[in-house]
Parts: sequence; structure tokens; C-alpha cells
Amino acid sequence: MIQEFKKVESVRGEIHLGGDKSISHRAVMFAAMAKGESKIYNCSASEDVTSTISCFEKLGCNFERDDDFIRVEGKGFKGFSEPSEDLYAGNSGTTTRLISGMLCAQNFNTVITGDESLSRRPMRRIVDPLRLMGGNIFASEHGTLPLRIAPSKKIKPTNYRLQVASAQVKSALLLCAVHLDEESIIIEPWSTRNHTEKMLGIKTEKSKEGTYIYVSKKNYPKPVEFTVPCDISSSAFFIVLALLTRNSEIVIKNVSINDTRTGIIEVLKNMGGQITIENFRTDNGEEVGDIRVISSELHNVEIPVEMIPNIIDEIPILSIAGVFAEGNFKISGAKELRVKESDRIKSLCDNFRRIGLSVNEYEDGFDLKGKISAQSVMFESFGDHRIAMASAVLGMLNETGGKVNGFECVAISNPNFLNQVESLL
Ligand code: S3P
Repeated sequence: MIQEFKKVESVRGEIHLGGDKSISHRAVMFAAMAKGESKIYNCSASEDVTSTISCFEKLGCNFERDDDFIRVEGKGFKGFSEPSEDLYAGNSGTTTRLISGMLCAQNFNTVITGDESLSRRPMRRIVDPLRLMGGNIFASEHGTLPLRIAPSKKIKPTNYRLQVASAQVKSALLLCAVHLDEESIIIEPWSTRNHTEKMLGIKTEKSKEGTYIYVSKKNYPKPVEFTVPCDISSSAFFIVLALLTRNSEIVIKNVSINDTRTGIIEVLKNMGGQITIENFRTDNGEEVGDIRVISSELHNVEIPVEMIPNIIDEIPILSIAGVFAEGNFKISGAKELRVKESDRIKSLCDNFRRIGLSVNEYEDGFDLKGKISAQSVMFESFGDHRIAMASAVLGMLNETGGKVNGFECVAISNPNFLNQVESLL
């Protein structure tokens, strides 16, 4: 589907976005693993989280959707049953990697498959450390899906230093280790999103070498009533749109402002963005607040490499802000972008060339120079939801607008994107 966007003059109003995708995945998984009834309020309606729910349905778990919440009848410790068909994870790396860790500790066979994009993404990053724990897990010869998981003779605790800055890899190991009486220690040299640790009450300690994470069966999920805060990654598209249109002022309500996710706010504030957090509070261990955004003049700044894991999902929209900010945008140290839903460095550079910018592409980033010169541009989503929404914002900021090919993929994280934009016009 081709979606057309016209230049937006101004956005104003208050907006509620869907539940945070990372937290919703975990809320669903942990509720399914716990014994007894859990209720999840404001769960993300994204296709990715729907993939997680459907995998757990195949493992024997029951989900009932009410107007306000999802009721989950959790199966309890090792209470899942062997699925009669492959678990299909759709486009979702989080579904695949997190449930793989949990499945390594079960006593039955499973196969995980996914769509074309997910089938290209690297899985050795979880297979190797899970095998060190005794997991009987195999990827294809290319290190990709399908993943085959068989019962293991013995899962043993691990003392493992993470090799990639990835919350998905970390969480895969944590979800295997919560099945063991003995303590596992996972060392994370960089900081990545810590929702798994927070939601399961896992002890962490910061040291010079990074964060030590201590996990055992004591952290096995228990039933909860949980309200998922709204998604900061989805908010980022609206924050940039409000900053860069004149006379704009918006408030995004009840957003997750966990400090392993708020790098985007910090960078945009450093660029001159008027962004304030109001009504700060803590709900079930997760920080929540309302984000107020007012039109601003932005200038490009250096983005420190240590910050990359914190802003990894927001780099597409941050680079759009960079196009309209004074000075030249540059990002480096971000080669993980090459193995996301699309090769995001290539996808972004391709779209920036289409509007006449001068682009230098590196293995771990890119820089942009020049001004937008092309008229009426057709951007490509590359089937990647964040590229589609970043291109939509680019179209809404560009004098001559723009079209986005393959726009339907936004439903992977935010099926209501267009209505939400409309509500602010
Ligand atoms: C996620 C972790 C990140 C992020 C993804 C969601 C999660 O991936 O890009 O969208 O929920 O744990 P990596 O941890 O592999 O970087």
C-alpha cells in the first residue's frame, strides 16, 4: 500500500499511544509462565505482540481479550505442552529470542519459524550461549531460522559475559536461567533495556566491567495485574513531528520513561528540543510520565557511541530530525542497525538519496550533507515499520510532502499510527 503524506503545518493536543512493545512482550510471556490468572492492561495491539500471544496459545496457554485487558491463564513451572505445529514468530525478533531461552528448559520439541525478514536475522547470538547452558538448540547452517529446540539432558547455570549489546540475547539467557535453583551470573558490559530484570525482580550490580545480573528460580514469574505504560519508541515519531513543525505543542500521556530507553529524549534535548516530563510516577517498577513537546529550533550534536544501545530503535526517526536540524547529521558505532527488521543503514541511506541529500554510508553508520532538493518523493519502507514511520514524518516535514511504499508494515509496532497523527492536526 502506498500512503501519501502532505506537509503538516502544526500539531497540537494530547495523545495516548499503545502499550510499550518490549514491555508487552514480556508481560505476555511472564503471565503465560506464571501459575494462575494474570491481567494485562494496555497491552500493545501490535502484530509483534500478537505473534507472542499466538506462540503461547500453541504451547497450551489461554488468553481472553476483554475491552480493557487481556486475561491470561498461566501454565506454571514447566507446565507448557508440546505444540502440534511450528511456532510462527512473524516479524518479531523479541518473540523468537526470548521464547527460545524459555523453551530450552522444557521437556519437548519445538521449531520456531518467521517471515522473510526474521528468517534473515542472526540467531547464533542466542544459540551459542544457550548451548553453553546445556540447551539443545540449533539454527540453520546460516545461523538463522528455523530454530529447532529439543529437550536437554541438563540445563546448567551460566556465568556468561555478553558478546553483543542486546537485551534480547540477555533476556533469552535470563529466561532459561529462571528455571534453575542454582544462581546464574550474566555480565553486561553495556547498558541495554532492563525490562526483564525489573519485571522479574532480578538483582543487578554495577561495576567497572559492566552490570552483573544474578538470576535463579527465585525470579520465576508470578501472576500479576499489570498496566503496560505507553511506548516511548512510538512516541519518538510524534516528538520529532512536534519539535519540527511551527506553533506545535503536544502532550503524550503515560509513557514508559525507563532510563534504558530515554536516550532519544536526551539527544533531542541536547539538540535544542523543548521536551519536559510531567507527572513522573512509578507503576509496577516501571517509570511512567507525560511528555510535553514544544516546537524548537534544532542543531545536530555528536551522538556518543555508548548511547547507541539506548537509542537503537529511534535512530531512524532521529536521523529525520537531523535532516532538519542545523549542521550535519552523523551516526556511528551502530552496526547493529544492519541486522534489524531491515538493514536500517541501507534503508535510511537509500531514502535520503531519493530526496537529494549527499550520503556517506559506513559499515556502522552514515552521515548526511546538503539540503532536500527532490520534489514529490516516493520513499520505500523496505517492509520495516520504523523506516515506514520515519519516512512518513519526513513526508510531513517536507515542503512538497512524500509517499511511502509498503506503509502497511507500521502495524508491526503501531497499527493506529495514521489515526494518532490525524488526532493532532
Ligand atoms: C528489544 C531489544 C532490542 C530492540 C528491539 C526490542 C527487546 O533489540 O531493537 O526492538 O524488547 O528486548 P536488541 O536487544 O537485539 O538490540
